[in-house]
Amino acid sequence: MILKAESISKKYYRPTKNASHFEAVKALDFELESGKVTEITGRSGSGKSTLLYMLAGLLKPSSGKVFLDGKDLYSLNDEELSRLRNEKIGVIPQGQTGLFALTVLENVLAPAAIYGETSLLESRAKELLEKVGIADLADAKMTELSGGEMRRMAIARALILDPEIIFADEPTDDLDDENTKAVLELLQKTARKGKSVLLVTHEASAEQYADKIYRMDAGSLLN
Ligand SMILES: Nc1ncnc2c1ncn2[C@@H]1O[C@H](COP(=O)(O)OP(=O)(O)O)[C@@H](O)[C@H]1O
Ligand SMILES: [Mg+2]
Repeated sequence: MILKAESISKKYYRPTKNASHFEAVKALDFELESGKVTEITGRSGSGKSTLLYMLAGLLKPSSGKVFLDGKDLYSLNDEELSRLRNEKIGVIPQGQTGLFALTVLENVLAPAAIYGETSLLESRAKELLEKVGIADLADAKMTELSGGEMRRMAIARALILDPEIIFADEPTDDLDDENTKAVLELLQKTARKGKSVLLVTHEASAEQYADKIYRMDAGSLLN
């Protein structure tokens, strides 16, 4: 599994004194390696999330291309892209996500429910909830969860279909030290199984789990 971006950039419409657009990510090349945790750090507003969403097939670049196993992601139609993303990519988004009408377990199983069977995956879902430390909340409604617990649900949900690539946008936000460590260890273990992990974070302790570290500054990626 190879993820490769060629000269991708993102301009947002935002009128300023000198221009009508604001370039959140300046044209850059990027490659994500299997079996490794790749970390991107950088201050807030530097373009990290924008880059992550473009690589994950969730945000079309203003220019350039993203290839997954040689397939040009943004040349696919919506259904093809959704299916490929569902199969190969797990995303842990920034902020709190989840369907409030469902239980924690049902939320974790949601990616499996879209295209088929969930019963086979129930034990895996419970195992993942165990790993992120919220097994006892499997039957709780999302509304009953704290921010950190919701975040851990999102981590289990991203891993449920055993994706080849995991994109994690500040996955340890709202977590205490103990859970931060558990989550970073889980991501590292996942990479050791041959998966690619892209970790966007400002958590200083994450560095020791990363195999490769980039810094983002004003839309540019520095080694
Ligand atoms: N949809 C949008 N429209 C306009 N500007 C945006 C949009 N999304 C993000 N931005 C701007 O782009 C810049 C980079 O944002 P982001 O990628 O979220 O940075 P980071 O994740 O590093 O904090 C910020 O200045 C942000 O305000
Ligand atoms: Mg961000």
